Amino acid sequence: MQNLFFKVTLTSITIPNIIFLKNSSWNIETIDVCDSTNSQVKLLKANKTLTDRTTLMTYLQRKGRGQGDNSWYSSRKKNLLASFYLEVELPVVNHFMLTIMASIALYRMLKSRGINCDIKWPNDIYYENKKIAGVLIENTLMRDKITETIIGIGLNVNETEFPESIPNPCSMKQIIGKDFKLDRICKDITKELDVLLQQLGSMPEELFHEYQSLLYRLNQWYLFKIKGKTINARIHGVELDGRLILETDGGTLMHLLFGEIEYII
Ligand code: BTN
Repeated sequence: MQNLFFKVTLTSITIPNIIFLKNSSWNIETIDVCDSTNSQVKLLKANKTLTDRTTLMTYLQRKGRGQGDNSWYSSRKKNLLASFYLEVELPVVNHFMLTIMASIALYRMLKSRGINCDIKWPNDIYYENKKIAGVLIENTLMRDKITETIIGIGLNVNETEFPESIPNPCSMKQIIGKDFKLDRICKDITKELDVLLQQLGSMPEELFHEYQSLLYRLNQWYLFKIKGKTINARIHGVELDGRLILETDGGTLMHLLFGEIEYII
């Protein structure tokens, strides 16, 4: 029954052609410290010193930014702090495909290292009930197209102690019990992005399907807080525009935007 719903959702979707420009390889640059790699990429862009498929990595951010007004914590040289800059030609209506691409790239890279994660909608990466990575995507628009994207990734790699103020963090080292090389991880993410860019051009429906199948708490009854009210519901998947589809225990389908739903543990 649960899968049936899924099939109906998938057979009825149409994702128009998504075009990604050029086929160059990634140029990875590392700076010792900056405010935020996403902000730094924007500065380079403004100075016209940025080329397509550039990754900017740093060891320390003074003002690491998270979703909304959140900040992003990482102590020096412990974790991956990187922004992946891409020139694209993507209809704005398909903006969520970038979220899908970033989340699956992280999922696949972690899986290749023995870590099986879920994607907490829209793009937090969770190991069991703990957050291991976050993504901050910032796009440049021209009319109805996204022309450039900055995919900022914060991945907890070798950190073993987090400030108490961070809700439920975990790191690769805490899971696997050994240190990982940050530059190797960064390179492997660019490789996953390359594969995904190809797949987004040729088989976007499959990626959309894969993303939904990896959702944290998919098809399981849980308590959620929506507009101040606690409700029992289960996640069915997402709409093409990225809205989360939730079914309440009363059988109502809700379509939610980011910020409209809170997960209750
Ligand atoms: C979130 O989960 O709230 C998103 C966190 C994104 C953090 C990364 S670290 C690299 C890049 N630079 C930033 O300032 N933020 C992103």
